[in-house]
Amino acid sequence: MLQDTIFSSQDLMALEDRYGAHNYHPLPVVLSRGQGVHVWDTEGKQYYDFLSAYSAVNQGHCHPRIISALTEQAQKLTLTSRAFYNDMLGRFEQYITEYFGYDRVLPANTGVEGGETAVKLARKWAYLVKGVPVNQAKIIFAANNFWGRTLAAISSSTDPKSTKDFGPYMPGYVIIPYNDLAALEEALQDPNVAAFMVEPIQGEAGVVVPDEGYMRKAYELCRNNNVLLIADEVQTGIGRTGKLLACDHDGFRPDILVLGKALGGGVFPVSAALARNEIMLTIKPGEHGSTFGGNPLACAVAMASLEVVKDEQLAENAEYLGQIFRQRLSDNLMRRTELVTGVRGKGLLNAIIIADDEDGHTAWDICMQMAENGLLAKPTHGNIIRFAPPLVMTEDQMHECCDIIEQTILHYQVPE
Ligand SMILES: Cc1ncc(COP(=O)(O)O)c(C=O)c1O
Repeated sequence: MLQDTIFSSQDLMALEDRYGAHNYHPLPVVLSRGQGVHVWDTEGKQYYDFLSAYSAVNQGHCHPRIISALTEQAQKLTLTSRAFYNDMLGRFEQYITEYFGYDRVLPANTGVEGGETAVKLARKWAYLVKGVPVNQAKIIFAANNFWGRTLAAISSSTDPKSTKDFGPYMPGYVIIPYNDLAALEEALQDPNVAAFMVEPIQGEAGVVVPDEGYMRKAYELCRNNNVLLIADEVQTGIGRTGKLLACDHDGFRPDILVLGKALGGGVFPVSAALARNEIMLTIKPGEHGSTFGGNPLACAVAMASLEVVKDEQLAENAEYLGQIFRQRLSDNLMRRTELVTGVRGKGLLNAIIIADDEDGHTAWDICMQMAENGLLAKPTHGNIIRFAPPLVMTEDQMHECCDIIEQTILHYQVPE
């Protein structure tokens, strides 16, 4: 059988290249095993994972409690659809709403579906509760946002790579600059605005951290104008930034919270939109859903994933290790090389800026050399390298990783 044939990394990359769509440009490393903060390639070389599948693996690779929840549930019941009740969904719904302090949840699978749910909820709320005339509702987004690849998501994108030749786009969107409260205030003057959807830190844009208090003030502006604030915490949520939610840094609860990625503990796609009754109950049976949304396997995995975050104090660990990471990279590294022009982030969602050309050749080459030295990270937007390891890392491991990053960059040589 093809599954049992032993392939080299080269063979496996060639297969993807030959048979897969060319919609990604991965680092040339083929991984076949993961445990905690480590992954191994097909040749057995060990790496620290500093991407964590874009923050989906906050709890570490193959966390035993999450895998055991998965395998136990997989032997009992995996999918019923929502045509029937199942014995896991209600438990999960109670668990997650109490965990984050909301009245209700609408479960889905991928992050982008969570975002779609939030946008649809906001539109329904605008028509049924706020009284916006039919089909006139608007959603405000921030420039450089990223919330996925569906047409609704890319319609709010300002990145030509995401949008070019995919039009026509979704109407009813307004784009304002990120981290600009005056622009938000002005956009909120339109009485047809239903919601402002925003990431507390823009992950895909290159870990862009707004000014202190931006999110809280944005929330207050929205509230004063009877507009919902949708927080897209698909990447920032679940402990990543040093608090359970990035909005917790600003001490407020968004009207609609979107979660994904680490909600599935890196083993299963689970996403969710959470809201209070007034918003969530505007959607009636048959008006929105998903065949796999709220399936028993997802429910079991998500509950275990959330338990692990609390029991192992992963948010606290992210906060602690994040301080070490940023301090070491700005004090030890930035002072000793002109290659690094900035270090930024919160908790364990960080990035460094490389002095580079538009194409980001240097950042790419540095990532290749870090991989050689046993640490995997990937450039984003050319010259920015994101560092987001699993949150189960120890302090010793963090120092070892900082050593690898520092040494690689200090000894960086232009490849021949
Ligand atoms: C902030 C944010 N929202 C939504 C998404 C989309 O998630 P998914 O790829 O699971 O659809 C992403 C993915 O990177 C994200 O970073």
